[in-house]
Amino acid sequence: MNNIPIRTAAEIEKLRIACKLASDVLVMIEPYVKEGVTTGELDRICHDYIVNEQKAIPACLNYHGFPKSVCISINEVICHGIPSDDKKLKKGDIVNIDVTVIKDGYFGDNSKMYFVGEPSLKDKRLCEVTQEAMYKAIRVVKPGVRLNQIGKVIQTYVEKEGFSVVREYCGHGIGVEFHCDPQVLHYYGDDGGVILQEGMVFTIEPMINAGKKELRLMKDGWTVKTKDRSHSAQYEHQIVVTKDGCEIMTIRDEELERISRVLVND
Ligand code: MF3
Ligand code: CO
Ligand code: CO
Repeated sequence: MNNIPIRTAAEIEKLRIACKLASDVLVMIEPYVKEGVTTGELDRICHDYIVNEQKAIPACLNYHGFPKSVCISINEVICHGIPSDDKKLKKGDIVNIDVTVIKDGYFGDNSKMYFVGEPSLKDKRLCEVTQEAMYKAIRVVKPGVRLNQIGKVIQTYVEKEGFSVVREYCGHGIGVEFHCDPQVLHYYGDDGGVILQEGMVFTIEPMINAGKKELRLMKDGWTVKTKDRSHSAQYEHQIVVTKDGCEIMTIRDEELERISRVLVND
């Protein structure tokens, strides 16, 4: 059964604030993502910024026992990489940082890829395709559209480019909880017949593998890697369905040449 909250204008305003803070963290951390820095250090910088500057709460810290404030996933790590003082970034790494903050009880969740030095052509393409897959999905969101159209556009595009879509993790409703209905599949699957409506708030966060879609969970209980050790990329935005399209609540200025914050989708 689906129980998808419809957010009021006042709630959406609070979500906008949380989302702006979450996207500010992704911008703030960029200059620190360099060869030689540890993911533990990046986590501390994000934590201190969220707590001391933003006066907000890092949502991942202690979430179901997650030990750090943000997820940092390098190369073959698909998601939920645990920052560590033993993990140094090296030239050629592709790195996802996933940041979720809570401000005034409301959640903002987003992630993007960073390059350490020059990535391989294939890794660069993988990241471009993953981001474009997310944008293509965002461009179909409007009231009256079936939820499964999101996964359909992502899967069709990604597979045409020769990459694969991770099945085990999906986008999610979000608001005063980290994860709620709907489940947003990134492949064409069972959506329970859900039709998008104005005021629904959810994330789109495709995880795309350069090789096969299969994964394995590491012994730490969190880190998820590709089974075939191919590289994986992810981008995530949080959006709200509007009267005639959607609004990207976590958009960053650097993206505005590619997509606008408020979309009227046809
Ligand atoms: N931010 C992730 C998401 O997009 C969730 C991370 S949960 C954690 O849904 F516990 F691993 F931090
Ligand atoms: Co999310
Ligand atoms: Co996230």
